[in-house]
Amino acid sequence: MTTAIKFEHVKKAFADQVVVNDFNLNIQQGELFVLVGNSGSGKTTSIKMINRLEDPSSGRVLVNDRPTTDYNVQKLRWNIGYVLQQIALFPNMTVAKNIALIPEIKGEVKGKEQEQREKVRNLLKQVNLDPDNYYDRYPRELSGGEQQRIGILRAIAFKPPIVLMDEPFSALDPLSRTNLQDLVIKLHRELHNTIVFVTHDMSEALKLADRIGVMKDGNLLQVAEPQEILRHPANQFVREFFQGSLGNDLYETPVRQAILFNELKEEQGDSTKAAPVISVDDKLANLLALLSEHPTIAVQNSNQEVLGYVDRQWIIRYLSGINDFN
Ligand SMILES: Nc1ncnc2c1ncn2[C@@H]1O[C@H](COP(=O)(O)OP(=O)(O)O)[C@@H](O)[C@H]1O
Ligand SMILES: [Mg+2]
Repeated sequence: MTTAIKFEHVKKAFADQVVVNDFNLNIQQGELFVLVGNSGSGKTTSIKMINRLEDPSSGRVLVNDRPTTDYNVQKLRWNIGYVLQQIALFPNMTVAKNIALIPEIKGEVKGKEQEQREKVRNLLKQVNLDPDNYYDRYPRELSGGEQQRIGILRAIAFKPPIVLMDEPFSALDPLSRTNLQDLVIKLHRELHNTIVFVTHDMSEALKLADRIGVMKDGNLLQVAEPQEILRHPANQFVREFFQGSLGNDLYETPVRQAILFNELKEEQGDSTKAAPVISVDDKLANLLALLSEHPTIAVQNSNQEVLGYVDRQWIIRYLSGINDFN
């Protein structure tokens, strides 16, 4: 495995306030790494040290095994996409111009206007915006969710090897948020780039992450895969933090979250052949309703691939486990 980003004993202080403390972390190439923690825990400061919007007070950050300070800042940033909560689209530029901003600046478009136009049109299609309709619009003619889509396209369109996303969906309504999370998963699967995604929302972290880093007061408390964090939280704080993400209504919990706690069963002869299907995005309430009628249910992902099976024993174990967790 190749390390894309490495933090070595990184410390950051503003005046005498230490906001990131002895931060050590390796993020692998192609990984979707989620940094999660409460407001003020140092998430934004940490990722700003990757594209040098901040520099460490001590320690160092390496990108592709080279200290960030060795790079020309401009070139470093051109290779690192950046998406923020407040999308900063240029109001006087069309959607197409906004998306193609970086290659324009780099002078890569000259003489290839037609090719570029096709590229941008394809990108719009990928995020379900009809290019005939959206290509020439201005940001003010877009909804918040649509603007955020363009912001994401601008950050990833020209395949920067690294993309930083700082709470990009926290200002959006739940439906747009879900759609854009799915978009990030899809684009990541296609581009295999390294993504560092910051959020304070545990269920967002669980949905997106290959690995999660949990921050508190400038310290990295645990780094692990979602499943590992849920099953073996490093300490009481991590346990309680994730407990909060379970929400008040257990039955509204997505199936995907339940299967992180409790592994799915494998195919087992006839009982699984006729099993009805539920999506990982569906709610636990619907899974329970199905289980009241059928002994076994197949769980599939958004590509309609069966991931495994659950039965009544499984759900009882899950529910009693949750009780334990609480
Ligand atoms: N430029 C700055 N000057 C002084 N303090 C700052 C600056 N940027 C961030 N901080 C402080 O650092 C701490 C961590 O902030 P931040 O990294 O933005 O946290 P998070 O993104 O997790 O909410 C906060 O207490 C914040 O007030
Ligand atoms: Mg922040």
